[in-house]
Amino acid sequence: MQGKHILLGVTGGIAAYKAADLARRLIERGAQVQVVMTAAARKFVTPTTFQALTGRAVRTSLWDAAAEAAMGHIELARWAELVVIAPASADFIARLAHGLAEDLLSTLCVATSAPIAVAPAMNQLMWRNAATQTNVELLRSRGVQVLGPGIGGQACGEYGAGRMLESLELVDAIAPLLSVAGPLKGRRVLITAGPTRECIDPVRFVSNRSSGKMGFAVAQAMQEAGADVVLVTGPVCLPTPMGVQRVDVESCEQMYAAVQRALPGTAIFIGTAAVADYRPISCAEQKIKKRNDKLNLELTRTPDILAQVSAGARRPFVVGFAAETEALEQHAREKLLAKNLDLIAANEVGHTKAFDCDQNALLLLWRGGRMELGPTSKRELGRQLTRVIIERYEQRERDARVASSGAQGEAHTGAESSRAQPR
Ligand code: C5P
Repeated sequence: MQGKHILLGVTGGIAAYKAADLARRLIERGAQVQVVMTAAARKFVTPTTFQALTGRAVRTSLWDAAAEAAMGHIELARWAELVVIAPASADFIARLAHGLAEDLLSTLCVATSAPIAVAPAMNQLMWRNAATQTNVELLRSRGVQVLGPGIGGQACGEYGAGRMLESLELVDAIAPLLSVAGPLKGRRVLITAGPTRECIDPVRFVSNRSSGKMGFAVAQAMQEAGADVVLVTGPVCLPTPMGVQRVDVESCEQMYAAVQRALPGTAIFIGTAAVADYRPISCAEQKIKKRNDKLNLELTRTPDILAQVSAGARRPFVVGFAAETEALEQHAREKLLAKNLDLIAANEVGHTKAFDCDQNALLLLWRGGRMELGPTSKRELGRQLTRVIIERYEQRERDARVASSGAQGEAHTGAESSRAQPR
């Protein structure tokens, strides 16, 4: 979102207070935010709040001569690279659907060529109303992005669909609408995430505490960087990031097969999955009964997906993860070399660290380099890691180009010298 121009339209509804947080989050992500408020919105929140957050005077009227002289409404409509209406009231959705242009915000929506996204927020009966639903369908058919609404308790005390999405959910939904020409445009990134489940019998399995959050955050950040992302994931309770192609698997064998299918044409492979290193030697056909005091499970090694990808003939840029409970750097460096990785992201796990929580810290290692990221949220860490991966990937591409032009130069010189030799 760095430097992107977002016009944030705020319409009349109690969720207008949440739009202040949305403005802040967009600015945190580097966007330039210009707020436009309707008269009804100003009954709920004052323009001063948004002005303080965005550092820009809030626009409220089509007839404000001073503001129009600074940037006329048509210029403002051109300035916007994305228009986000949050909250979008039932009334505003109706006006947008019918192309009305009686106040500044509705006029801007008619005058802009930028994509428009609306985050509806209203009472659940108003949302379910046939007129609202028809208007929303009409907007969708014209390419307007409808973000939400969420389902839950409402300010009016009722329960149902009509809550505005939370600001972080909105930021995540908005980001892909802006990332048309990211640095990884046209590149495929293949990511594994989550735990695997290795079958013991029809109802039991061997697994681990991985939540998949780190892998999903990386997938989202890669998608935002313009990549075509394929996310092969073990069983997790996470929504698929917008624009990401998700492949659900259970066991290591299934994950390996899905990776092999998606690998051709992959530019970057990132193994964030906590793949089981061992699986039961066989999966019992029937549920194992508790007949004895002791039960021995015989385990056998699973294929190392990351190492196999890295060993392949046409290997992509390969990034591994190392989850360690001790001697983090030493173990991570050993893995970097043993698995011939381009980069490894190591994190301490266990004792409530990293697994199944929202915060994390990473130590990044590559041949000749080292960097520490965090501690911060996994979402932010995903973005920071993505930036480093892109830098390293682009460096490798540059090195490869230099090496191949050097080799061509040598071949050329060789040919000339052989011609120069006496016959
Ligand atoms: O050797 P270790 O399991 O600690 O290595 C961790 C890295 O290897 C992670 O990137 C993980 O996704 C990957 N891995 C894998 N297949 C396995 C085991 C680990 O891809 N069977």
